[in-house]
Amino acid sequence: TDAAPFIVAIDGPAGSGKSSVSKAVARRLGYGYLDTGAAYRALAWHVLERGADTADEDAVLAAAADFPFGQGLDPDDRLVLVGDVDVTAAIREPRVSGAVSGVARVPAVRVQVNDAFRRIVAESAYPAVVVEGRDITTVVAPDAPVRILLTAAPEVRAARRAGELAGHDASAVAAALHRRDATDSAVVDFLTAAPGVEVVDSSDLDFDQTIDAVLAVIRRLASPQ
Ligand code: DC
Repeated sequence: TDAAPFIVAIDGPAGSGKSSVSKAVARRLGYGYLDTGAAYRALAWHVLERGADTADEDAVLAAAADFPFGQGLDPDDRLVLVGDVDVTAAIREPRVSGAVSGVARVPAVRVQVNDAFRRIVAESAYPAVVVEGRDITTVVAPDAPVRILLTAAPEVRAARRAGELAGHDASAVAAALHRRDATDSAVVDFLTAAPGVEVVDSSDLDFDQTIDAVLAVIRRLASPQ
């Protein structure tokens, strides 16, 4: 049987370029790509679909106990399923973004979701998988040979988000980003690097330079068997 895939763990805050950079790196190297935020989003979608409130912890736990979650690892086809419903687009809707913190903050949910990530990676046919999120370097894959915290200054992250959301008021975007950082970092600290985690600060780098910086860390730390 094949060896378990090699993990490249990448954590970071919103607006650091984490998702687009992780996906591009996976594509470049022929690795799989796992966006772990998608699982929390899919569970939030599932809770809402059941007509429940994501602020109600018992309702979240009940939904998590009956959560047939599936996720593809192809960086060019990031299919997310709940049962046989394709929720790939729906989990990006504002109603889900607004509800997701409620499910991500429940410790028993995190344990369950982390088990699902380990299973998805272990069953993968890819030689290596870029796993991206908030607690990958610390909780999901603390023994990964490559662990990176991708950061950027808060004002740079806010400007990038505002650029993605053309037509939105930049100061409102900055305020929403800071609010989300505060809520999310109360659950896991993704703003400071744990010991042994490489920091890549993208504040002064463009997209291609950030990809190159991450590829350089991967090259330096390991190559898959
Ligand atoms: O990265 P994202 O916006 O898709 O993340 C969605 C939510 O899930 C966000 O509130 C942070 C949370 N999350 C988490 O708590 N742990 C992870 N490994 C990934 C995401």
